[in-house]
Amino acid sequence: MAWQNKQNRLLHLFEYTTVRYVGTQNKKIGLLYRIFQLTIVGYLIGWVFLKNKGYQVKDDTLESSVVTKVKGIARVNTTDSNLWGPEDYVFPNQGETFLSIATNFIETPNQKLGNCSENPKVPNNTCSKDEDCTVGEAVRAGNGIKTGICLETHNGTCEIYGWCPTEIHRDPHPATIVREAENFTLYIRNFIRFSQFNFSTSNVPKENRSLYLKNCLYDETVFPYCPIFRLGDIVNKTGNKFEEMALKGGSIGVLIEWLCDLDVDSECRPHYSFVRLGKLSEKIGFDFRFARYFTTAGQKQRTFYRVFGIHLEIMVFGMARKFCIIPTIVNIASALTLMGAGSYICDVMLLYVMKKRSVNTESKNDKEIPLQIMPESLKRKFSL
Ligand SMILES: *[C@@H]1O[C@H](CO)[C@@H](O)[C@H](O)[C@H]1NC(C)=O
Repeated sequence: MAWQNKQNRLLHLFEYTTVRYVGTQNKKIGLLYRIFQLTIVGYLIGWVFLKNKGYQVKDDTLESSVVTKVKGIARVNTTDSNLWGPEDYVFPNQGETFLSIATNFIETPNQKLGNCSENPKVPNNTCSKDEDCTVGEAVRAGNGIKTGICLETHNGTCEIYGWCPTEIHRDPHPATIVREAENFTLYIRNFIRFSQFNFSTSNVPKENRSLYLKNCLYDETVFPYCPIFRLGDIVNKTGNKFEEMALKGGSIGVLIEWLCDLDVDSECRPHYSFVRLGKLSEKIGFDFRFARYFTTAGQKQRTFYRVFGIHLEIMVFGMARKFCIIPTIVNIASALTLMGAGSYICDVMLLYVMKKRSVNTESKNDKEIPLQIMPESLKRKFSL
């Protein structure tokens, strides 16, 4: 007896229960189910696979390096020289991801170290007697160190020791704009790498490189992959006029976007776009100061410049995609699960219809299975 019990329990272990299916010819339910199936298949193929490329994995950790070079010569009228090359107007000279190109300037020539009056616009530097000016104290936001003398003839300001005369303060003038800057060219070399796929490339075309670079100039339609840009074009593409921007300077973002489909070999190319940084309505300028030093007759002198320029910031971003079996399977499986949910909904609706029919059995257009002969499992499923 005990032995038989044991055998029974063992048999239970290898039991497999199947679902009993109920066929129905209710046309509405049938149609609903087909529509549902079609929607799911459409969603899987159209949205998941074609639109969102659900069969690929993506890598958006782009590694990038940028080298820049500016070319062009401009005629200027300064005390130092009358010709500017890239070594004079590009800051910094190394060719980094951010660079400034001088387009206008205010020059304070021949400054020497010595004592002179401070600019009266500098705050916290007024005095009425010598005791108000502490010897050796630096003027905050000023140009030098106080000598301890109050210059009453100069609106009562402390005398300073520094580079004299102090910087000339005025608004930038259109006459000093470096007009040739419009024709300067910027060459951007950008190497990128997607480490997940061990894929690297650059924005400079591989075939006929030197010939191509000699003859091309970036243009959205004619040369969309040429890495040489005319400064005037860059400014125009941000929706600004060159003359206007050159006067007071401004910041521009050069965006390089890489959207790469590594399953299609030719589809890993950069897309360039240009935006003015800061609000368009405010038109924030860009300026900075620097000096050039020289010695005349044994005395150190310098030419001081306040420079207005176009500040370029090169920003690289992007994403690569490649086929992978795992997301493909996951996406198909989730669509199949949805399909299961659809049949569940149809079951519920079928039961609802059948229940109603069994209460008032007047119309019998569709062949139906009455509730009485519904399979036990289905009844249990919906706890009827
Ligand atoms: C820029 O170059 C074009 C053609 O090479 C020339 O006609 C134009 O005068 C140049 N502009 C300036 C400001 O030098």
